[in-house]
Amino acid sequence: MSIQPPALPQQLPKQVKIVEVGPRDGLQNEALINGKAISAADKVALIEQLADAGVSYIESGSFVSPKWVPQMATSAEVFTTIKRNEKVTYAALTPNMRGYEAAIAVNADEVAIFAAASESFSQKNINCSIAESIERFAPIIADAKKRNIKVRGYVSCVVGCPYEGDISPEQVAMVAEKLLAMGCYEISLGDTIGVGTPASVTKMLQAVSARVPTAQLAVHFHDTYGQALTNIYAALGLGISVIDSAIAGLGGCPYAKGASGNVATEDVVYLLNGLGISTGIDFDKLLQTGWFISNKLGKPPISKVSSAYLAQQQS
Ligand code: HMG
Ligand code: MG
Repeated sequence: MSIQPPALPQQLPKQVKIVEVGPRDGLQNEALINGKAISAADKVALIEQLADAGVSYIESGSFVSPKWVPQMATSAEVFTTIKRNEKVTYAALTPNMRGYEAAIAVNADEVAIFAAASESFSQKNINCSIAESIERFAPIIADAKKRNIKVRGYVSCVVGCPYEGDISPEQVAMVAEKLLAMGCYEISLGDTIGVGTPASVTKMLQAVSARVPTAQLAVHFHDTYGQALTNIYAALGLGISVIDSAIAGLGGCPYAKGASGNVATEDVVYLLNGLGISTGIDFDKLLQTGWFISNKLGKPPISKVSSAYLAQQQS
């Protein structure tokens, strides 16, 4: 008797939107080289190459304290220098009204606010409680509504926290629901320290989707424990069709010790191509873009797919 391959989940989406977070989440955590941050010109080149590869949503920088996150100090210059592609959304991460106003001043197309499902992480990351952070976001959302600017919401530590350990799915669902009720159009669920597995991620997604429509959820996996792709596959099976990823697996989080990069965009697109799910991304151009930024940073891409293609090219 021949062995049949296992059936794929029935609910796989036909199309997925990739939210490219490399220029923000990726670069924010890259070490300074000889005390210097990556130049604005290199960030601009990265963002323009991503757009040229067909990436339609690029989180291009953040407007946070440059003392806390020096790599993001040039975000205003980046936003004013990029040649915009009208098919692309250039978004900015904003922690408070001051950051929001700075993002608006340079014509960010959308902004993202970020809360956590863990009190300790909220304190370390943005120096306030979860409830205080939600209060800080209210004027941002109110102003963005007036200007017709969409606001995306992040919830960090959706499976585990570097300070508190396991996080209950109910707590995540509560914070996600609050952000939705405030006016965020999409909630990105961040496994900031990459500890989730399909079991814990599925429990969390089930709890959240009881309160937030699946169509308004995105997943954001850091690959610290090498579980990101399998978690993405689980999320796709639950109907999630928006995936955050970072070119060349850049990233981490300055306030989550040991958190490695986001799942690499190259790895995600390879997986989606294999599943017959379209992204609108030109895979070859994506690989080139990953090699470009890796060269600039003087390190290999943190992507098995990218490394495999690079080795083929060099042989
Ligand atoms: P604070 O200490 O609560 O606020 O910081 P403050 O008003 O007392 O200001 C402190 C200093 O920051 C002052 O400067 C302000 O001027 C300045 P100083 O007097 O010390 O020279 N400041 C600002 N500067 C520039 N832009 C601003 C701004 N606001 C205040 N918008 C604050 C509050 C949130 C600003 C600070 O804690 C901060 O910048 N934290 C960094 C947060 C961050 O970028 N974290 C990483 C991104 S989140 C993430 O990666 C997770 C995510 O990817 C999802 C996931 O993976 O789970 C989204
Ligand atoms: Mg992140």
